[in-house]
Amino acid sequence: MDIEECMKEWQDLLTDYKRLETINKDYATKLEEVGELQAACVKELNHQRYRMSVINGALKRLEKKGLTKDERVANLEKEIMKRKAMLHEIEATLPKQNSLYLRIILGNVNVSILNKNDKFKYKDEYEKFKLILSAIAFVLAVANLYINFRPLQLILIFLLVWYYCTLTIRESILKVNGSRIKGWWRMHHFISTVVAGILLIWPQNTPWNEFRHTFMWFIAYISVVQYMQFRYQSGVLYRLKALGARHNMDITIEGFHSWMWRGLSYLLPFLFGGYIFQLYIAYTLYHISYHPEATWQVSYLAVLFLILHSCNMYTILQVLKKKGKSGLKLRYRLRAIAYRLSNEIAVLVCLDCLHKLHRTWSLKQLVPKT
Ligand code: COA
Repeated sequence: MDIEECMKEWQDLLTDYKRLETINKDYATKLEEVGELQAACVKELNHQRYRMSVINGALKRLEKKGLTKDERVANLEKEIMKRKAMLHEIEATLPKQNSLYLRIILGNVNVSILNKNDKFKYKDEYEKFKLILSAIAFVLAVANLYINFRPLQLILIFLLVWYYCTLTIRESILKVNGSRIKGWWRMHHFISTVVAGILLIWPQNTPWNEFRHTFMWFIAYISVVQYMQFRYQSGVLYRLKALGARHNMDITIEGFHSWMWRGLSYLLPFLFGGYIFQLYIAYTLYHISYHPEATWQVSYLAVLFLILHSCNMYTILQVLKKKGKSGLKLRYRLRAIAYRLSNEIAVLVCLDCLHKLHRTWSLKQLVPKT
């Protein structure tokens, strides 16, 4: 290019820059509008929740007065349940404040994922992360069963500290983004981090050598259970997404329900096996705590394993009880609908982009570059 051509190119670029400026201005205005719309949505959401709580209160008072439940009351209760689930889905499209734990770790950075498909990807990645780390833990645990080498033991235990710590952060992000993960499963990972931390500072003495093998077997066992959980959870995730893409959902939701129970009946015996193993570990540690060389770590770990066993048992029974109730199918149906809605919105956005591209392209044809 000679200087003449450079000048011409620069002039040409100026027109393009003007266009960029206009688009950016448009973008900034739209961002402002989005902020206003989000605030309006939050206000309406709170309004819905407040009025629903008033109606709920009135229904409860009527029930207390001994009025018999007629068809209208039953219908209203069903509608309220449906609306609650829909409000949950709407809330998931709005940015949320970080929890205290996330604020401490990450600061005030916003971790809200507003698109359902991106949420799906994040959850999928979380499940894959757990799977890969469990596979590594399995290999290390088996290696530790055959080789008595302290650094190898420390590598596994340190990996566990890091793994559980990372899980607590990822799960807090999932929670901010509308996941219904039970508080206990998150708490379980906090306690597991503490357990791994205590194991890390347990001195290498006779009690440790007595316990080492049991612990390695346990890690190998829960790694296998983790693989089974991965199969179940990713099955749920992909099936719900696929269900959302179908329009005749009522028949397929039945299929999903029976698939879920089949998946659970396959997984549950192994989960209960894990909980019995935790009880066995608590007992073994209690026994070892009477050893003359036993340090404080032994009894603390015994208590923590007992807590893990009892709370796991309690929570899983609660989950099963809840799954047996009638509202479950409706909940899964709504989750599938949420996927469909987000897909439809994504298609609309794409169409809009294509339309804009087409318009820009047509303009370029009309006003050819000189
Ligand atoms: N870890 C992380 N997330 C979990 C979870 C767990 N243990 N259990 C459930 N969730 C999530 C689900 O993925 C779902 O997320 P979403 O709202 O983002 O879609 C939400 O919590 C609600 O799940 P729910 O419908 O109540 O249960 P489910 O059918 O997904 O899973 C179990 C039920 C029993 C299979 C599952 O809770 C589980 O595997 N629990 C055992 C965990 C355990 O004991 N681990 C230690 C092994 S020794």
